Amino acid sequence: SVWPAIADDLLRWYDAHRRDLPWRARPGEAADPYRVWLSEVMLQQTTVATVRPRFAAWIARWPDVASLAAADEAAVMAAWAGLGYYARARNLVKAARMVVANHGGAFPSSEAGLRALPGLGAYTAAAVAAIAFGERAVVVDTNVERVVARLFAIHQPLPGARPAIRAAADTITPDARAGDFAQAMMDLGSSICTVRAPRCLLCPIRGACRALAEGAPERLPTKAAK
Ligand code: ADE
Repeated sequence: SVWPAIADDLLRWYDAHRRDLPWRARPGEAADPYRVWLSEVMLQQTTVATVRPRFAAWIARWPDVASLAAADEAAVMAAWAGLGYYARARNLVKAARMVVANHGGAFPSSEAGLRALPGLGAYTAAAVAAIAFGERAVVVDTNVERVVARLFAIHQPLPGARPAIRAAADTITPDARAGDFAQAMMDLGSSICTVRAPRCLLCPIRGACRALAEGAPERLPTKAAK
């Protein structure tokens, strides 16, 4: 990482403030790739508050990838009700069956291997590689996009700014604790570096924030006029 102090400060904050979420491993424990993958797919269209109980019910019914691979597809679709985009549920079953049939029941650990599974796009593959396997992957969702656009004062409008944001995110991603770093960025974006009225006084990396130095962090990122 080009700016190790940023990751250090962010990880220190995460260690003190991390939320205990049912798919997150406790400190020192190994993450379960199945739970990480399922939670990331559920969280793509739904808030953490809504996902929590749905995730728990799902895990009670299909606790591991083998049980999901053996599940009745109609039952899985019914269990997905209210979570939106049924293609995601169909892809969950397809991917579970591929993991069992082609990978001996163990998720591929690389971003590229994960990308080859149905329903795993760039974001999900990077998130699972980092969070479940500790791989150094650049994990950028809309919350992280906002944090990075502000940190580096990227004024170019979205979506054109995405490559620049990704490149900037790469420069602050550490080699160690990639999963904690990704989740720390997500938590910072959802709790402190919010769309409106960011709580900059509470931000662990405010000293490095160029948008704050410029005086109007809430104005970034900008969006192209429609
Ligand atoms: N949103 C998407 N993935 C998340 C995660 N792992 N932790 C918190 N919020 C998230």
